Amino acid sequence: TRPLKVALLGCGVVGSEVTRIMTTQGADLAARIGAPVELAGIAVRRPNRVRAGVPAELLTTDATALVKRGDIDVVIEVIGGIEPVRTLITTAFEHGASVVSANKALLAADGATLHAAAAAHKVDLYYEAAVAGAIPLIRPLRESLAGDKINRVMGIVNGTTNFILDKMDSSGAGYSEALDEATALGYAEADPTADVEGFDAAAKAAILAGIAFHTRVTMDDVYREGLTEVTAADIASAKRMGCTVKLLAICERTVDGRSVTARVHPAMIPLSHPLASVREAYNAVFVEAEAAGQLMFYGPGAGGAPTASAVLGDLVAACRNKLAGTTGAGESAYTQLPVSPMGDV
Ligand code: HSE
Repeated sequence: TRPLKVALLGCGVVGSEVTRIMTTQGADLAARIGAPVELAGIAVRRPNRVRAGVPAELLTTDATALVKRGDIDVVIEVIGGIEPVRTLITTAFEHGASVVSANKALLAADGATLHAAAAAHKVDLYYEAAVAGAIPLIRPLRESLAGDKINRVMGIVNGTTNFILDKMDSSGAGYSEALDEATALGYAEADPTADVEGFDAAAKAAILAGIAFHTRVTMDDVYREGLTEVTAADIASAKRMGCTVKLLAICERTVDGRSVTARVHPAMIPLSHPLASVREAYNAVFVEAEAAGQLMFYGPGAGGAPTASAVLGDLVAACRNKLAGTTGAGESAYTQLPVSPMGDV
């Protein structure tokens, strides 16, 4: 069988881990896919930065040329942000490559357009890593629950803020001390404002709501409050009431069922609630579906290795589809349910 060629865009915390796993576990991946997978090039901004275990001869600063090569089967995008990534992804589609992305900002801004572009070129777009790191969530919502009616998706989808709130709650650590620790562990975004102001969670809420309710939801549709206003005193008073504070993302159908809402804000939850015991940078998401009932997804939601796990799962799926000459299950038609940030309250 011909080897499948993979281009990697970005080689930071997640990209280095993806490279490490692809090079050290190549034989296992090949066995699972049914063909060898070859890393054909890695686009980076700073080629001279030392990256342990990343083959220097694969590095290039010309991401555009890499996605235009024409022989790339799958492009993995772990750069983040809207441009130039949106252009790189659409160029990859135009040149016949499927795309695996961890880019929540882009998917939250323009997911529907990207899905349509992938479908038009008969290639895949997978982004399990964009929401809740290693936790399988996108594919269960897109595929396993495609025959059910989802009414609500709610949970903790930002590891950094959960880490901060947990440290403040359990050890009385100060806010900035806890944030520094989260950054050192590779959980926080390059600019942690996205985490602490709730932008990261709002992007994930938009993606989840769009998939769960088969409609177009963008980040601008999501009501957002971060945790910067949460004080040690708030946490202490929550504790006295048998509660803890968590930053929640909540996506639900409105009572009349005619629209959907998505919001992110700090919430006081009783210690008896399963979300209260989600510690450190772990994420947990409840899904309520009509036939399935309540489901809970729980696991590491941030960090290089967990995010790489989700990327590689998508890579295997995209490669299998390439070999079979098919594409994975995408949304074929969106409804246009109105979206309002706070619903009909
Ligand atoms: N900064 C994000 C978080 C990374 O803390 O959850 C994973 O998306």
